[in-house]
Amino acid sequence: MTKKSSAAAPRHVAIIMDGNGRWAAARGLPRSAGHKTGIDALRRSVKAASDFGIEYLTIYSFSTENWSRPKTEVTFLLELLRRFIRQDVAELHASGVQIKIIGARDDLEASMIAMLDDAEKLTAANSKLKLVVAFNYGSRQEILRATQAIANSVKSGALNVSDITLETIAGALDTSGIPDPDLLIRTGGEQRISNFLLWQCAYAEFVFVPEFWPDFDAAIFRRALDEYAARDRRFGGVKAQTA
Ligand code: IPE
Ligand code: IPE
Ligand code: MG
Repeated sequence: MTKKSSAAAPRHVAIIMDGNGRWAAARGLPRSAGHKTGIDALRRSVKAASDFGIEYLTIYSFSTENWSRPKTEVTFLLELLRRFIRQDVAELHASGVQIKIIGARDDLEASMIAMLDDAEKLTAANSKLKLVVAFNYGSRQEILRATQAIANSVKSGALNVSDITLETIAGALDTSGIPDPDLLIRTGGEQRISNFLLWQCAYAEFVFVPEFWPDFDAAIFRRALDEYAARDRRFGGVKAQTA
């Protein structure tokens, strides 16, 4: 028996939940209706990820660049996150989901920071599914913050330049301790990464699905996992020898 190089089940799936606005526009509805319905897709996805035995699910909920949207839309999106945390954290906790939020936290409102901290603290000991919520997240900004932290360690004498390794950098990112995504799914048909997990996705498999995020469900998720399972992950090496 030879070992197949393709991994049947990804340990970590990251999702760019895109297409809410277009989903709404196609129905003659305001963009906010797409965002609201997107929450149902998020609930379905968390449940599906858990059922599929995925260990880490990272979701892109609000990017650093999303602040440039009209103020009414930004306010709506922030309120939606607040409501999601208020309404869903207890149930997620009961079903064993651990919540971690990545992204810049300092520039958020104090009440929002407290809410995110509380959700993390409440669910810290859970081990069923790790749900990583990328909120106010931009990968370049994350790398910048990590670089500043490392530079400060060098400046204070705690770290030698020659001791900076790949692990030092990975450990200074918001995703410290989280394995790199194996699979990145983007809904809505766009084929770009939009400042999401640039360092972490060095060897992720990308699956782009045409469906808009509010329509995402377990069947579409399953198809993306099947596509992933058929991939040959080589990590720069050569294809596994078949006997
Ligand atoms: C994704 O849907 C949600 C966020 C980026 C917050 P969009 O709002 O980007 O929807 P489209 O891409 O404009 O259709
Ligand atoms: C990426 O979607 C961000 C989130 C899903 C939160 P965008 O809709 O903001 O990305 P672009 O503008 O199409 O690249
Ligand atoms: Mg979009």
